[in-house]
Amino acid sequence: MNTPILETHSLGRDFKLPRASVTAKQQLRHAVVDVNISINAGDRLGIVGESGSGKTTLAKLLLRLDQPTSGSVNFMGQKLQGADMADFRRQVQIIFQDPRSSLDPRMAVEQIILEPLECLNFSQNHQARIDEVLQQVELDLVIRSRYPHELSGGQRQRVAIARALAAQPSVLVADEPVSALDVLVREEVLQLINRLINQLGLTLVLISHDLSVVAQLCDKVAVMQHGRIIESGATQSVFGNPQHQFTRELIAAVPQLPTLK
Ligand SMILES: Nc1ncnc2c1ncn2[C@@H]1O[C@H](COP(=O)(O)OP(=O)(O)OP(=O)(O)O)[C@@H](O)[C@H]1O
Ligand SMILES: [Mg+2]
Repeated sequence: MNTPILETHSLGRDFKLPRASVTAKQQLRHAVVDVNISINAGDRLGIVGESGSGKTTLAKLLLRLDQPTSGSVNFMGQKLQGADMADFRRQVQIIFQDPRSSLDPRMAVEQIILEPLECLNFSQNHQARIDEVLQQVELDLVIRSRYPHELSGGQRQRVAIARALAAQPSVLVADEPVSALDVLVREEVLQLINRLINQLGLTLVLISHDLSVVAQLCDKVAVMQHGRIIESGATQSVFGNPQHQFTRELIAAVPQLPTLK
């Protein structure tokens, strides 16, 4: 059997809540509880769940932007340390929900995309790579010298995608990548992500509270509630024949699910 590209073992993350008084007992928020997932190369895994169910916390743990309180994350079968981290940082990239806050407003588009190439010691010509990746996300090259505030919401999210893809990752984690966009632009950006995942052979972890987005892009799905994964499997079987009451409620809230591509 192939080694999973990312795998979690009893992953947990507790946050300390502010104390009501100095003598009050420390309360914890169990944001992620005993999560075991295994993501193979080429998987398109959707993570769904209501607001506050722990989706973003799980994404941050997968990306090592946050440390677990318990359990572990393996990358290609290894616990990461020291020198391996540089390769991991290049291989696993994220797109956030709101490009307005995830892009530095003081940087022109070309600087935004150059940054990961420099930080991750990308070996090929950086300027040529900026052009190439802008073409991949279907942006005109005149945009290189523009600043985020000079772009539309859709263009900004394309720049965020270009930055994530610049150093040729193998895994893309997208946390609500289209939630901040208006309806028409959402569809375009979803189609773009779909094409790029296919063309580049990427592994996708897509987080969304919107089941229709996951139904369109993902072949597997995990449903989160109160920090736990309560149900997971092939998207068609989970959405077509949900086993858990909470999953049934999530599905009932969507007018009509689009069919899987
Ligand atoms: N840094 C933090 N400190 C304290 N509590 C936190 C922190 N980050 C997240 N939480 C709490 O952990 C829980 C899970 O939050 P998380 O952001 O992972 O949810 P989510 O599923 O991504 O929600 P949404 O759909 O609204 O983005 C929430 O109760 C949240 O308030
Ligand atoms: Mg979130």
